[in-house]
Amino acid sequence: MSDLIIRKAEEKDVSAIEKIEKQCFSIPWSYESLYKDVVENGLAFYVIAEIEGQVCGYVGVWKILDEGHITNVAVAPEFRRKHIGRAMLETLIEVTAQAGIERYTLEVRESNQPAISLYEGLGFSVEGVRPGYYEDNGENALIMWRG
Ligand SMILES: CC(C)(COP(=O)(O)OP(=O)(O)OC[C@H]1O[C@@H](n2cnc3c(N)ncnc32)[C@H](O)[C@@H]1OP(=O)(O)O)[C@@H](O)C(=O)NCCC(=O)NCCS
Repeated sequence: MSDLIIRKAEEKDVSAIEKIEKQCFSIPWSYESLYKDVVENGLAFYVIAEIEGQVCGYVGVWKILDEGHITNVAVAPEFRRKHIGRAMLETLIEVTAQAGIERYTLEVRESNQPAISLYEGLGFSVEGVRPGYYEDNGENALIMWRG
């Protein structure tokens, strides 16, 4: 996709991020939580994907010593299956690895096969389970690690 731009998220992107968050998750983060993470949290790093000025996805990570805890991964429904999720995560990992992150982890619903396949393709594997982790339906979380 020739006009895909992947860049660091900025304050001006938070409204677009919130819109995608609501489209993608049954328990979305609030605008305030996203704003704090994107703009104010010095240990957080967010990347967005943009096509012709439209934000179409985002990923975020918290830097905890040499570990990267991936917080959010989302692509707006109309932009899926174009390798945007993969490209954003590759960029996030490349940039934060240069800043000293050696291992990455995340949680994913055990029914979320699209996301699990995306993560496995990037070298993540399942290393644990949090039973009943998700409040809305009591679904288990798989804990995945890379590195
Ligand atoms: C999961 C998500 C981020 C994937 O984003 P995406 O940009 O569509 O994914 P990509 O196009 O980069 O896919 C990369 C690979 O992941 C796998 N994948 C992605 N979507 C898939 C699907 N619906 N079914 C099966 N495999 C899928 C494939 O292996 C794909 O490679 P391929 O297209 O060459 O087969 C997107 O579906 C999404 O936003 N879902 C809702 C939010 C969410 O669940 N986030 C994760 C929370 S842990």
